[in-house]
Amino acid sequence: MQDKILDISRRRGITYPSFEIYGGIAGFYDYGPVGKRIKENIENLIREFYVIDEGFMEVECPILSPEDVWAASGHLENFADLMTECKKCGAPYRADHLIGRHIGKEVEGLGIKELEEIMEREKIRCPKCGGELDRIYSYNLMFESFVGPGRDKKTAYLRPETAQTTYLAFRRLWEIGRKRLPLGVLQIGRSFRNEISPRQGIIRLREFNQAEIQVFVDPERKDTNEFGTVSKTKVRILDKNDRESNMSLADAVEGEIIKSRLIAYHLERALRLFETMGINTRKLNLRQHTDEERAFYSTDTWDVEFRSGEFGRVELVGISDRTSYDLKAHQNLSGESMEVNLEGRRFIPHVIEIAYGIDRSLYCILESCYVEDDRGAYFKFPKRIAPYQAAVFPLVNKDGIPEKAEEVFKRLKQARIFSLYDRSGTIGRRYARADEIGTPFSITIDYDTLNDGTVTVRERDSRKQERVKIGELVNRLFLNFNF
Ligand code: GAP
Repeated sequence: MQDKILDISRRRGITYPSFEIYGGIAGFYDYGPVGKRIKENIENLIREFYVIDEGFMEVECPILSPEDVWAASGHLENFADLMTECKKCGAPYRADHLIGRHIGKEVEGLGIKELEEIMEREKIRCPKCGGELDRIYSYNLMFESFVGPGRDKKTAYLRPETAQTTYLAFRRLWEIGRKRLPLGVLQIGRSFRNEISPRQGIIRLREFNQAEIQVFVDPERKDTNEFGTVSKTKVRILDKNDRESNMSLADAVEGEIIKSRLIAYHLERALRLFETMGINTRKLNLRQHTDEERAFYSTDTWDVEFRSGEFGRVELVGISDRTSYDLKAHQNLSGESMEVNLEGRRFIPHVIEIAYGIDRSLYCILESCYVEDDRGAYFKFPKRIAPYQAAVFPLVNKDGIPEKAEEVFKRLKQARIFSLYDRSGTIGRRYARADEIGTPFSITIDYDTLNDGTVTVRERDSRKQERVKIGELVNRLFLNFNF
C-alpha cells in the first residue's frame, strides 16, 4: 500500500522530494499542486476548530529569531539529541534510537554516561559497516544563521517550534484580547529541526509545518465549562507507566491520569478534528510521555498517536502543560514583565499547548483514506479535505460540447469552487484520474446537455449518477451534496 500511496503522491503532485534535480537533501519535501490544496484544507479545518469554535486568535511571526529568544527558552542548551558516529564509515546515529533498537527497549531520556555504558556492555557496532562507534555527544537540532552584515552581524536561529514566537508577543496579545483568560492563540507556520536521520517521507522532516495553539490560563483554573460535552468520551490510553486502558475522559481525570480537565477537553477536540480530517479514529490512541522523555518545559504531556500500517506509532499532536516556564524565562532575560492582574491577583499565566504536525496529519489522512477496488486505487477524502470538489468533462471534443463544458466550469469557478477541467482520454480514464486524487464529484456534459440543459453528476464513493440542471448545479454542490 505504501508504494502505491507514494506513487500517486509523486505522480499526481501531492508531495515529492525537494531539490530533486540536484540530488535532493533528506528531510525536505515539496507540496505539489494537489498536496498544497490538501494542506490548505487541513489548515482551514484547524482554524475553524480553534478560531471559530474556541474563539482563539491567530497570529503569524517570523521564522528566524535572535539568539536571546533561544537562550531564554532553553533551546540553546537543551534542544539536542545524543548522537554517535561510526569511526570507520562516519555514519551518524541518534544514540538512543540505535541502542533502543539493538536491545529492544525504549531508552529515550537516558544520559550520555548510561547510554555509553549500555553501548559498551552490549558491544554495539555500526549497523552499516560493523565499525566501532565513537563517544556519544550532544547535538543541537537548531539551524544557525546570521542577520545583517559586518560587525553588526547577529547570530539567529530558525525556530524549532512556533510556540516561542507566540510567547514573545504575550503582552500585546493580552491587551488585544481585552485582558481575559483563557486566552488562546493559534500560529500556523514552518519550523526547522536539523534532524540526525530524517526519514519516512514527510513523517520526520528538517523543515516542517506546525499548527500550535498556546492557551494562556489562570494556574488556578486549568478547566473549561465545556468539559461536560466531552467527559463521557471513551479513549484508548497508554499512560506514562506503559499501562494500557480504555476509559472515559471523566475517569481519566478523576483517576489523576490526565492532570487537568482542560488537557482532557483538548485531547477530545484533537480526536474530533482528526476524525473530521478523515483520519481513521480506530487507529488513534492517547499516550502520556514518561517522566524521562517529557520535554524540559513540561509537567504533563500527552500525544495523540496514529498506528500506521507502515511506520508504526506516529505522533500527530502533543498537548502539554508548559506551566509558566516560557513566559517566566522571557521575563527574566528581556526584563519585560509577563505578569497579569486579574481581579486583584497578580501572576504569570500558565500555558496549555496543543502542537499539531500538519505534514504528519496529511500522511495519516492519505493512509486512512486510501482505497483499492475494481476501479483501481483512489483516496476517499472527506469533501472538506479533497483538493478539488468537482471535475468537469466534455463527453466529446466536438459539436459544441467543449464550449458548454467550459461554461459549466466557469460557473463553478465563479462560485469559488475548486474544480478541474479534463478533456483528454476516455470518460472512464477521466473518472479514474479524478477519483485517484479523491475528487468527490465528476460532472459530464453530453448531447442531452445541449437539449435540456442538464449535466450528469457522479458521486465518487457510490458512483451514483444524477442529472442536474446547470442552473441548479452550484446550489446542489453546496447544499444537497453536503458540501
Ligand atoms: N511546541 C511543542 C512542540 O514542538 P513537538 O512534539 O516537538 O512539540 C509538535 O512537535 C508536533 O510537530 C509533533 O506532534 C509532530 O506532529 C510535529 N513534528 C515534530 N517534529 C517533526 C519533524 N521533524 N517532522 C515532521 N513533523 C514533526
